[in-house]
Amino acid sequence: MSAAKEPLPLLQIEEAVKRFPMPQGILDRLAGRPPRAVNALNGVNLAVRRGETVGIVGESGCGKSTLARCLVRLHELDDGRIRFDGKDVAEYRGAERRAFNRRVQMIFQDPYSSLNPRMRVRQILGEALSVHRVRPPAEIPGRIAELLELVRLPQDAADRFPHEFSGGQRQRIGIARALAVEPDVLVADELVSALDVSVQAQVVNLLLQLQEELHLTVVFVAHDLRLVRHISHRVAVMYLGKVIEVGPTEALFTAPRHPYTKALLDAAPELDPTRRTRVAAARGELPSPLDLPQGCLFNTRCPHAFDRCFAERPILTPRGPEHRAACHLTDFGLPQADPASVAAVAAPAPLSL
Ligand SMILES: Nc1ncnc2c1ncn2[C@@H]1O[C@H](COP(=O)(O)OP(=O)(O)O)[C@@H](O)[C@H]1O
Ligand code: SF4
Ligand SMILES: [Mg+2]
Repeated sequence: MSAAKEPLPLLQIEEAVKRFPMPQGILDRLAGRPPRAVNALNGVNLAVRRGETVGIVGESGCGKSTLARCLVRLHELDDGRIRFDGKDVAEYRGAERRAFNRRVQMIFQDPYSSLNPRMRVRQILGEALSVHRVRPPAEIPGRIAELLELVRLPQDAADRFPHEFSGGQRQRIGIARALAVEPDVLVADELVSALDVSVQAQVVNLLLQLQEELHLTVVFVAHDLRLVRHISHRVAVMYLGKVIEVGPTEALFTAPRHPYTKALLDAAPELDPTRRTRVAAARGELPSPLDLPQGCLFNTRCPHAFDRCFAERPILTPRGPEHRAACHLTDFGLPQADPASVAAVAAPAPLSL
């Protein structure tokens, strides 16, 4: 009997490359220097299954937002591809492209700047519903009521303007607007970073509930590891524009298999409340994305680097059930996480409503 086939991932990111050309000065041009570019994504590989939440973490500048923007086609890739339902999204045209724009929605960090201050919530949601013609006009009022209920806002919110709401409530309106078009995928980039910690928990828990209730596929980009651990089924760690480790959340947090992930977890103050200051995730400076290291991108900071690390870039290879890491060492004797700190992280108290 043949084994049951794994369903095709809803999103497949394959060797995704994105560069941002640097403006070239007149002196550089006169000297005949070649144009330079920020290497924001350097061959990202990641699959996202229907109905799961994948967290994306990594230090500032590692390409998280660029990846999120490429997923919703706010940027086009320079190389590689993103498949949605098996098809390269760069090939979508016309009605297919519009359907993709509806099915994959981004929720922004600051919904206020994307909510028209002169429109009442009813108009904001109504506009989203009519642009994509997801509901006939007669059904729009009922759908607006449903959306407000989904994001736990009172019905009278429909007649108010964005400035009348708190940051957390505005984030709920942003989520309702994204849900209005009945998407399959939500891409949330630093969704709650601008909110107070107590409000962050409420919004993240709402997203968690909606994901389960509506069977949404969520890509949750954040630098706060505690939030990512709370909400994600699987986590991908990025370094210098590459996914260097991906695995089931608890496996990755309790037994990281890449030296950078280990350094990132060790340095996270949110995972260990006794740490007051943020320490660097790894020794030494983060290399410039203008000048990538040869071989392993982490070799300038890795305490385990050896000859091969400077010659050959490692690819993601299996390290356990669904767990993969891009490192030439398959076992570098990483100590297991301290059970006390794991327990502290796992404690749901700060995030429960
Ligand atoms: N529009 C842009 N133009 C030029 N460089 C950019 C642009 N967007 C991002 N970058 C650069 O790409 C790299 C990755 O940035 P970003 O994706 O914002 O990282 P993160 O979200 O992880 O902090 C950084 O070096 C950043 O300066
Ligand atoms: S490949 Fe080498 S330099 Fe890179 S993380 Fe592994 S041991 Fe460190
Ligand atoms: Mg970002």
